[in-house]
Parts: sequence; C-alpha cells; structure tokens
Amino acid sequence: MKIRSLIRSLASLTLACLITGTAAAQPGATPTNEEAIDITGKTVLVTGSTDGLGRETALRLGAMGAHVLVHGRSAERGAEVVAAINEGPGSAQFYQADFASLDGIRELAAAVMADHERLDMLINNAGIGSGFADGNRSLSEDGHEMIFQVNYLATYLLTQELLPLLEKSAPARVIHVASLAQRPIDFDDPMMEDDFDAGAAYSQSKLAQILHAVEMAEMIDPNLITFNALHPATMMDTTLVRQMDAPARTTVDEGADALVHVATAAALEGRSGLYFNGSTEARANAQAYDLQARERLIELSVELTGD
Ligand SMILES: NC(=O)c1ccc[n+]([C@@H]2O[C@H](COP(=O)([O-])OP(=O)(O)OC[C@H]3O[C@@H](n4cnc5c(N)ncnc54)[C@H](OP(=O)(O)O)[C@@H]3O)[C@@H](O)[C@H]2O)c1
Repeated sequence: MKIRSLIRSLASLTLACLITGTAAAQPGATPTNEEAIDITGKTVLVTGSTDGLGRETALRLGAMGAHVLVHGRSAERGAEVVAAINEGPGSAQFYQADFASLDGIRELAAAVMADHERLDMLINNAGIGSGFADGNRSLSEDGHEMIFQVNYLATYLLTQELLPLLEKSAPARVIHVASLAQRPIDFDDPMMEDDFDAGAAYSQSKLAQILHAVEMAEMIDPNLITFNALHPATMMDTTLVRQMDAPARTTVDEGADALVHVATAAALEGRSGLYFNGSTEARANAQAYDLQARERLIELSVELTGD
C-alpha cells in the first residue's frame, strides 16, 4: 500500500510493538519539572490553540519554555495567545489555516517546514463538535463531510506532511486529541450521506484519530516519533461544548492537565500507540486494534486527500 511504503521508507522500517492498551495507571496530572521532559526552546505546534483546550495547552507549553506555533482561524485570538506566551519564558508565532480546506492544511505544513529546522511536537487538537452548523450536515471546500475533514482528515494530512520534519527532530512526539466519544467507522458510508447524525459523525471522526495514532505507531520507530491519542476531559467549558447547548461538566484546566501530561511526561518517552482517558492509559474502541480497519482507514484517507 502506498502510504505504508512511504512511511516505512521515511522511518527506516523499525516496527514498534503492537499496542494492546492494557490499563496501567499513570500519574494523574501535569508532570512536575522532574517528571517532564525539558521542552525549553523546543518547537511545538498546537493546532486549534486560539481557543479552549488548545489555547490553555499552548500557554502552558510556552510557560515551560517552548517555542509555540499557535494555530487557528482567528488572527485576533491567535495574536492574543502569542502575546501572552511572549511575556513569559517561551516564545510563539501564529499560523492561520482553515482545515475546511485540504489546500489550507498543506499550506500550513509548507509554512512550518519553510520557517523551522525542527518540529519536536505536534498536537493535533483543532476540532469541531456535534453543535457545528446547528447539527446539520455540511461539506468542506473539498466536498467531504465537514466534521470528518476538520477532526480527522486534517490530523491525517498535517501529520503526513510534517513527518520529515518530525523525523529530523527525533525524538519527537505526536499527540491526537480524540475523545471518549468513539463510533466505529462506517466504511460503506464514511461521509454519512445517508442518515446523517452530528453526534455519530463526531464520534466516528474521533475514533478515526485513534486508529491513525495506533497505525502510525506500528509504522514508525518510537525512538524517532511517538504517536498517542487521548480523551482530555468530558464536556469541558469550551466553545465546542457551548455550541452543543449542553452544560459543561469539567474545566479546561482538567483537560489541559491530561494533554500536557501526555505531551511532556518523561515516563512516556519511546511509548507509542497508546490511548489515554485523561492521564490514565486505557483501551479505546475495539476498532482501533483491528488491523484491517486501520488499513481501510489509511486507504480512505489517501483517496480523500490524494496524499
Ligand atoms: N470540550 C470537550 O469537552 C472535549 C472533550 C473531548 C475531546 N475534545 C476535543 O478537544 C479538542 C479541542 O476542543 P475544545 O473544546 O477546546 O474546542 P474549542 O474551544 O471550540 O476550540 C477549537 C479550536 O479549533 C479551531 N478550529 C475549529 N475549526 C477549525 C477549522 N475549520 N480550521 C482550523 N481550526 C479550527 C478553533 O480555532 P478558531 O476559533 O480560531 O477558528 C479553536 O482554536 C477538539 O479536538 C475536541 O474534539 C473536547
């Protein structure tokens, strides 16, 4: 398969162990300095960091001394996050890209590659929820179901495009911000042309991210790049949740504790293909561990993105 051979040639064909995802307790919050890797001066891209969980995570990584590439559509909110990070020990710059356009995602990757010699961490966090477009089915610029494109295809394509830079920066980390909401991908109708349901579309896109992390972990030597996914926290108080017209049940701080833990815990060095519920290693929906399903997803991703 094209994608597998591409990745293999890129990453010297070292197979990581198959991840079984057995429950093993992890520390429950953002690591202390002693427990965290040193990210001073490291370059980290946090997609969707103009708001919500991504914003808080970008601020925290900046406070740990990283150079943060802040991304979103809102230049105004992006500038505010950049300014806040630049006041502390870290530094930041803003990249604007709309993930409703595959070209927009490619242009973001190209700009990052042109501006930086290395990329130590990629956090695929940008996302939309079931409240997007009032729960109605909508299409991306490329004609794909919008939630699948913004939440999953953007994760796939951006990661794919940035692999050479990540590999050059080994050991690098890629983290997909997924969700506890997980629905097996319907390969007969992945774009949900029949019986669209926004909640189902969201859950499908989030499980697709986990399948991708597990598949990449199998392809790429974890000493070069690790790929992990997490559910940050349930119903945080963010724009995405407010658009669902549902009450918040947790805070952005709780989600950021979990995300920063997975991003920086020293104990996770070289550990790849894991799924976390908060900061706790857990088992995702069974489809994530189904090799055939993962291969079908990669085939579908190649077909839909051309990459
Ligand atoms: N909130 C929860 O309880 C919860 C639970 C589980 C998982 N998650 C996941 O956590 C992640 C962050 O969610 P959140 O609740 O923090 O959401 P949020 O506050 O609504 O923030 C979403 C971020 O994504 C960006 N974004 C949205 N559409 C985009 C597009 N078309 N192109 C580029 N960027 C786009 C937004 O940027 P602009 O505003 O600048 O466009 C914003 O920075 C998502 O992946 C979500 O699925 C959230």
